[in-house]
Amino acid sequence: MKIILFGAPGSGKGTQAADLCGRLKIAKISLGDILREEVKKGTGLGKELKGYMDKGLLVPDEVVAKVIEGNLNSKGFVLDGYPRNLNQAKTLDGIFKKNNINYDVFVNIYVDEQTIINRLSKRRVCKQCGAIYHLVNMPPQKEGICDKCAGALIQRDDDKPEVIKKRWEVFQKESKQVLDFYKTQKKFLEVDGCENKEKIFEAITKKIGQ
Ligand code: AP5
Repeated sequence: MKIILFGAPGSGKGTQAADLCGRLKIAKISLGDILREEVKKGTGLGKELKGYMDKGLLVPDEVVAKVIEGNLNSKGFVLDGYPRNLNQAKTLDGIFKKNNINYDVFVNIYVDEQTIINRLSKRRVCKQCGAIYHLVNMPPQKEGICDKCAGALIQRDDDKPEVIKKRWEVFQKESKQVLDFYKTQKKFLEVDGCENKEKIFEAITKKIGQ
């Protein structure tokens, strides 16, 4: 199964990606996670990436294209966070064709701006395993501690109010062209990201017959 998840920052892509990978036993390719790993290493590339990410800007297309091509496999995946603009959509199409990969569904998870602000300002992630929480919607059992691995829960550097605003603006500017690109294909699915996470998961798995 090959799933592409699309949506604004905070729409719930990472949350759904984790659940889908758990159910379908396929790889999670989260571009944001891969980039953050590089930042953590403190390499020259990592420092360059951080410069874009901390401002809420997209990393240049040519950089992320290499990352994606190196991580895709033909067995199955949930792709979270790529593509984000028309150029990336075309690049991905080219990579699929070159490697004989047919994706199964493109999921657009749509949400409004106020929901995004509320979700991202109260999001916490596990420093160790990357599990995603929300202080109100999906709190951990013990405050500040990951239910899955007991790691410390932290706030992401780009979840500051001014950066959230910028990320939303970037999404608004780029998203329509991406959606137009995929809407013409029968594999397009749209889900309301304001629904609870179980309902969204059910809509996606129903569409792909799982
Ligand atoms: P990335 O890490 O991908 O960030 P994003 O797209 O901004 O998305 P988020 O991870 O913030 O949100 P999400 O949709 O995964 O929501 P989540 O499940 O966590 O990218 C970070 C940066 O990397 C970018 O800004 C850019 O600089 C760079 N980058 C990445 N991809 C790139 C690309 N292709 N090209 C160039 N640069 C790129 O949920 C959010 C919160 O809501 C959580 O607290 C969660 O618990 C809660 N929640 C989730 N679902 C629900 C629900 N149904 N109901 C209630 N609460 C929910």
